Amino acid sequence: MRFPRPSHQAAPRSAAERAQERAREQAQQQLRVAEPSRVVLLGGTSEIGLAVVRRLGRGRSLDVVLAGRPGERLAAAVEALVAEGHRARAVPLEARDRTTWVPALDGSFGAASSGAGQRVDVVVLALGAAPDGKPSWQDPLAAADLVQVNSAAPVALAAGAAQRLRAQGGGALVVLSSAAAVRARSTDFAHGASKAALDAFASGLREAVRGDGVRVLVVRPGFVRTRLTAGRSAWLATTKEAVADLTAHALAGDDDVVWAPPGARAVVEALRWVPPRLLRRLRL
Ligand SMILES: NC(=O)c1ccc[n+]([C@@H]2O[C@H](COP(=O)([O-])OP(=O)(O)OC[C@H]3O[C@@H](n4cnc5c(N)ncnc54)[C@H](OP(=O)(O)O)[C@@H]3O)[C@@H](O)[C@H]2O)c1
Repeated sequence: MRFPRPSHQAAPRSAAERAQERAREQAQQQLRVAEPSRVVLLGGTSEIGLAVVRRLGRGRSLDVVLAGRPGERLAAAVEALVAEGHRARAVPLEARDRTTWVPALDGSFGAASSGAGQRVDVVVLALGAAPDGKPSWQDPLAAADLVQVNSAAPVALAAGAAQRLRAQGGGALVVLSSAAAVRARSTDFAHGASKAALDAFASGLREAVRGDGVRVLVVRPGFVRTRLTAGRSAWLATTKEAVADLTAHALAGDDDVVWAPPGARAVVEALRWVPPRLLRRLRL
């Protein structure tokens, strides 16, 4: 006689189901990045990007490629990393010049994986421009320029980096989005819109490539004290080191999205429920 199984007991799983679960767990495990060796930073002088690189290489020596606009700042960033014990090189990249995008990726992957069997473990996409403080809708060309630097170039670079990571059999792509991507500020909505395009693209890309062993991590900082925000202040302001810490933890775990500080998410979610009439008065 067979007794019915109590409702709280899970049904026994077949060998095929257990094998599937193991494969899923292994695939998930493969996407975690704890101790990368080779890192590419697109936006090679970004303060947040460099903090992420340093955090990933804490206590170890990394092979780093900094892709950015040639100049003193880029050269100084390479020098500083080398002085700290890393191997670092620069490759040229200008967001406003699309002829540099593919060579920058080729140079980054070639340079970072020069030895046989070497591969890029993490690509950090950090290039971006801040709003210039003027009402964006009053200057169409400045609004379009933000889209070029914050959306068009990063979208192409994210797609190109993901393709290369797929081709080498896996790796991680960290995309510096913004809390403003989820809720644009009324005062600089062109900036929010430009980040929203990148955020949506990266979120779609994440699902498209995860089956190929490629991890896409979207990082949404609120206000971070860097030269990008120099001269301004904000409630819930955080540091580049804190963003780097949260990013490294997320890479070692399973999160798809990082908010920095974590409380920024609650603020953005809460703002969804504030009536537009009140928001207009608050000028948020
Ligand atoms: N700081 C914040 O509060 C905050 C908040 C949310 C999101 N974010 C995002 O985080 C990322 C890093 O920001 P950050 O705070 O580290 O600022 P940052 O230090 O000013 O970094 C910005 C990077 O973008 C590069 N860049 C700007 N225009 C470029 C162009 N036309 N071509 C090539 N590279 C260009 C800069 O290179 P150059 O040195 O050549 O100018 C620099 O490497 C950005 O995507 C930003 O939108 C920052």
